[in-house]
Amino acid sequence: MNSQTTFASHFEWLGGEARVLALAERCGHPRLRGRHLPFKVGVLERDQWVACMDQAMGETGVPDDLRRQLRDSFFKTADFMRNQEG
Ligand code: HEM
Repeated sequence: MNSQTTFASHFEWLGGEARVLALAERCGHPRLRGRHLPFKVGVLERDQWVACMDQAMGETGVPDDLRRQLRDSFFKTADFMRNQEG
């Protein structure tokens, strides 16, 4: 998946269900969890991933309200990506 498509996935994920469906039509269903199965994603990896996104949002000046909202959304999806207990 190239970076443009990766950007599009994030953009469309943030835009809600209708946009995710539009993405699915263009590129096939994202199947994000399945694509992460070759990699160990546990609590540590989830939390580090969310911390990196949060740091990036801080460095790029995302306003606090939006940052909190996005951190929650990122956490939920990152937790869904988890494929190990620990
Ligand atoms: C909101 C949660 C997440 C989103 C939206 C997300 C999204 C993506 C996307 C779009 C890709 C591109 C590759 C593909 O789809 O085949 C990818 C790859 C990857 N993600 Fe995630 N991801 C998330 C969480 C995580 C977490 C928690 C980890 C754990 C460290 C992780 C590790 C990886 C790895 C190792 C790759 C492969 C990178 C490569 O091929 O170089 N992701 N992710």
